[in-house]
Amino acid sequence: MDRNADAPWSKFDPEAYVDLNYRTPLEVDLLIVRLLRDYFSGCFDGGIPDSVRGVDVGAGANLYPALSMLPWCEKILLLEYARPNVEYLERQASPEGYDEVWDAFWDVLRDAPAYQSLDPRSRFGEIVRAERANLLDLDGQRRWDIGTMFFVADSMSECPDEFRRGVRCFMDALNESAPFAAAFMKESVGYKVGAHRYPAYRVNENRVRESLEEFTDELEIHDLHHMVRPGHEGMILALGRRNSAIAAP
Ligand SMILES: C[S@@+](CC[C@H](N)C(=O)[O-])C[C@H]1O[C@@H](n2cnc3c(N)ncnc32)[C@H](O)[C@@H]1O
Repeated sequence: MDRNADAPWSKFDPEAYVDLNYRTPLEVDLLIVRLLRDYFSGCFDGGIPDSVRGVDVGAGANLYPALSMLPWCEKILLLEYARPNVEYLERQASPEGYDEVWDAFWDVLRDAPAYQSLDPRSRFGEIVRAERANLLDLDGQRRWDIGTMFFVADSMSECPDEFRRGVRCFMDALNESAPFAAAFMKESVGYKVGAHRYPAYRVNENRVRESLEEFTDELEIHDLHHMVRPGHEGMILALGRRNSAIAAP
């Protein structure tokens, strides 16, 4: 059984990954972006608190989770383990501005009022930073006010215990009442990026619900039956707010 530490993360090719998944926006990703936009807009419709800090865990080569947090945050940290992905993210947050491929996702976000007044490229460059970190080392010492984790806990190992630990580490990185979004590939048997294979743990809606329910009192699960390639059965999006049962650091 492939554990997280066994996979060739140092060989992860972010450009190949973008080509495979995001260069031509898929209907399911655009749907997820709409759901994210509307969920976060609802969470903040009473006003935006001062100095909200956001985190996207295992950001890889995907900017849309961070873009969806842009109106609410003073700072956003992209945590990522694979060095080529950290370098990709640093380039995206540099003064040159992020790649055009991400514009299609912003076009969906800016249909909601909170996103409309922003210049996303300059704001992204101002408030977003990337940092190399291991999700499984997050121990509750650092916490954020809003967070996303897309296709990570289920797409980094074949081991059930590492899946559950990944979810727990993410949830323990959130402050009480922090809105969160987490996405999972349904029943994934693993995936290939360029010449390399990466492991996955097979989840369905029930497994996702079981893994999250102790951390939240309001959980909304969207079971999206869109297949993007052979080897999985769709995507699952979980939206919620962190409850008060915070583990002691
Ligand atoms: C399937 S990709 C998902 C990337 C991106 N979030 C997305 O939505 O497309 C899985 C990501 O998890 C990252 N990853 C794997 N193990 C990790 C770990 N232990 N800590 C943090 N990130 C990890 C990988 O480098 C990769 O970027």
